[in-house]
Amino acid sequence: MIRSLRGMNDILEDQHRRFDYFHHTAANIAKRYGFHYIETPLLEETALFKRSVGESSDIVGKEMYQFTDKGGNDVCLRPEGTAGVVRAFIQNKYDKKGGIYRFFYHGPMFRYERPQKGRLREFHQFGVESFGVTSVYEDLSLIMMLNDIFNALGIGYALQLNSLGCTECMPPYRKRLLSFLDAHHEQICEDCQRRKNTNPIRVLDCKNSSCQTLYEEAPKLINHLCESCRLEFQTLTSLLDNNAVAYTVNTHLVRGLDYYSKTAFEFVSNEIGSQSAIAGGGRYDRLVEFLDGKPTPAVGFAIGVERLLELIKLPQEQREGYYFGAMDAEALPLVLSLGHQKRRSEKTIIEYNAKSLKAHLKNADRVFARYCAVIGENERQKNSIWIKDLVSKEEKVVSIDSL
Ligand code: HAM
Repeated sequence: MIRSLRGMNDILEDQHRRFDYFHHTAANIAKRYGFHYIETPLLEETALFKRSVGESSDIVGKEMYQFTDKGGNDVCLRPEGTAGVVRAFIQNKYDKKGGIYRFFYHGPMFRYERPQKGRLREFHQFGVESFGVTSVYEDLSLIMMLNDIFNALGIGYALQLNSLGCTECMPPYRKRLLSFLDAHHEQICEDCQRRKNTNPIRVLDCKNSSCQTLYEEAPKLINHLCESCRLEFQTLTSLLDNNAVAYTVNTHLVRGLDYYSKTAFEFVSNEIGSQSAIAGGGRYDRLVEFLDGKPTPAVGFAIGVERLLELIKLPQEQREGYYFGAMDAEALPLVLSLGHQKRRSEKTIIEYNAKSLKAHLKNADRVFARYCAVIGENERQKNSIWIKDLVSKEEKVVSIDSL
């Protein structure tokens, strides 16, 4: 038997209900914030992710589904959504037109990671990307949007916040951190020794506990921000206070992708095991320019949909629509045509085999229909149909014309 690949799942009925409910809720909220749907291809040039997510990141270094296509192009399945949206933004000349553009998207992403609970190789993200706003008010809006989405779904979270500084304050901080790492070179793990040479700030989120203990002593970027980054971060935190959104400042939150500057945040849940990040994002003011566009400030986030599914409090499912059945073969053509007519306005399930009333009622219950409509010999002779409301339990016979 051929099975699905490791870390890649089918989305079946109950899961799909949860996906659907999530998308519906999140998309409605994103639209309320003025965001428009965008869809970009699943397959892109590998260079796009190398240049945006960064060659030193685990995503690009170890996790890409990368191959050469039949035309000899180096391509890969998208590991995340931001790079493709930025490419589309530049390719369609939004950067040249100027102004503010806000997009949301959802769909599958692919990362060749070691699968475990909450960590898949094909997973789904719901993301938003906002272009053209320098103000930290937009960062606040995105955090408020996530807060709205999680509240609407009944999901509790903790928000972790950091600032990654800008081109003015990051380079001198990197130097400070490097000299700290040089001084402790023998104590840090092999991964950190490697990261020290490629992207030193990534050492801060190393999972190794002895590295973590050591980095408690490391210089903190939050204490070395330039005046404008410091003020922006202060504005953001006081706005969050004003809006009663709780957060903790995590000075080790650096995110696994290289494109961030200034605001970085992660929403975590303590109810889903070790893969606790349910959303992450931040500002990436230099990425558009870096991908050859006109410099444009930008900020965004993505939610990991699978990690949310079991946390979502689904509203109670309501019985819906009609179930049509015939009690003898002669009634079947009439049942079919009535069912098809009903379908134009309501969800309708049609049973193709003649069955007893009891069997039809059982079927109607199984498909969670509101009404069970059945035609037997009696009804056929009187040009009528028997209908039971499965909520009120009321039964009646009505003429086919009035149906
Ligand atoms: P990210 O933190 O890499 O950010 O991913 C966002 C979310 O996707 C994570 O918080 C997690 O919930 C989910 N996720 C990541 N990897 C997996 C996996 N292997 N299995 C299941 N879920 C996973 C980004 O992707 C950025 N593009 C977010 C962003 C948008 N930043 C700015 N704009």
